[in-house]
Amino acid sequence: MAKFTPEPFKIKVVEPIHQITRTERGEVLRRAGYNIFAVRAEDIYIDLLTDSGTTAMSDSQWAGMMLGDESYACCRNFFSMEETIKSITGFEYFVPTHQGRAAENILFACMVKPDQAVPSNMHFDTTQANVIARGGDPVNLLVEEGLDPASHAPFKGNIDIERLEAFIKQIGPDNIPLGMLTVTNNAGGGQPVSMANIRTTSEVLHRYGIPFFLDACRYAENAYFIKLRDPGYAETPVVDIAREMFSYTDGCTMSAKKDALVNIGGFLAMNDEGLYQRVRQELILREGFHTYGGLAGRDLEAIARGMWEGLDERYLAYRIAHTRYLADRLLEEGIPILEPPGGHAVYLDVKRFLPHIPQRELPGQALACALYLEGGIRGAEMGSVAFAREDPETGETIYPTLELVRLAIPRRVYTQAHLDYVVDACKRIHERREQIKGMRYTYAPPLLRHFTARFEPL
Ligand SMILES: Cc1ncc(COP(=O)(O)O)c(C=O)c1O
Repeated sequence: MAKFTPEPFKIKVVEPIHQITRTERGEVLRRAGYNIFAVRAEDIYIDLLTDSGTTAMSDSQWAGMMLGDESYACCRNFFSMEETIKSITGFEYFVPTHQGRAAENILFACMVKPDQAVPSNMHFDTTQANVIARGGDPVNLLVEEGLDPASHAPFKGNIDIERLEAFIKQIGPDNIPLGMLTVTNNAGGGQPVSMANIRTTSEVLHRYGIPFFLDACRYAENAYFIKLRDPGYAETPVVDIAREMFSYTDGCTMSAKKDALVNIGGFLAMNDEGLYQRVRQELILREGFHTYGGLAGRDLEAIARGMWEGLDERYLAYRIAHTRYLADRLLEEGIPILEPPGGHAVYLDVKRFLPHIPQRELPGQALACALYLEGGIRGAEMGSVAFAREDPETGETIYPTLELVRLAIPRRVYTQAHLDYVVDACKRIHERREQIKGMRYTYAPPLLRHFTARFEPL
């Protein structure tokens, strides 16, 4: 057996990357207001900001792009996508959207009314913001071990079923237009949700007549974790695990930029015909006709092909092992990370990495800046900047339990040597961690703050 799982592909096209000097990186950071979203991509050496839309597409996907049918209505690629989505998810209806958050916006526009709550294991920033934008309350009911970065529980993305049921009883099912599960749980470390948890969530929500949707961006990685960690599924093909996951739900939002291995696109799928008709209206108003939903025909074809590639078990074995490699090497160097590693990313545990910086001084942002300064590496703050919220009653800031910097791994893009480079940079920062100082805002927008806020070091 090879020590490391080799890539199940070879490289046909390359994109040069280069490093600017440390002094230049310091100047770039200052000009960007210490927000690495504002740094030009060409000034980044290793870009681990996100695994979303950063995939290297396959030759088959690129070939499919040439078969794009750019007719306004009913292009042939819509039907390829329809066949694929129906086969994998089993849902009756779907609409393409330009990405995941567009699907969320349309779904919540059709379902969520002011003061209603949407419970989930854990909302991602865009679902949280889209629920809030409709006047709703996004509620996270993750199991306790999901908030403990050192716990090795196999399914740390599970929702706490008892709290879910208590919550429904407390506010009443009429105030809950839908419940959701994010698979895998991106905001909580890319941790998977077990099949048993999906099934029980379905039973509880349906008992109270509440529709159940998956935020399915990383459904294939979640399905593969179920295969690896639940002995009952060890012999089940991943595609069948995915089908079973979807079978307990009434629909899903999907950012195809993740497990469908494309650079742009998404969809919203559902079984309820009445909802589909409302969704279609909203889609035509906001995104485009319902057979293209803001995408080109070629994009639809790339999604249709990428959905199958994302479920390929050789690809998934490599993908999970590649991520695990980065995690293991960081652990070897004594660098605190959230364990076990998720499917798409390794998350630095900032509270243990920089214990001297309190959350009000934005330690995750400070660490993300240090990574860029040290190695030209771009990670994503997922802590007090991305997830802190104001208590609507007291106005006080509620800080998230987990304070993380996510090193997301683009699919099929970086080699093991790139990951070694990242480990070396993290090690050097860790060795001089006491010298790192906190940050403060010089500008902060009210929603999805982390994308456009500006900062300065304290
Ligand atoms: C769990 C989850 N939900 C939703 C989204 C939003 O998808 P998009 O970026 O395509 O709008 C993301 C994106 O990172 C995500 O990780």
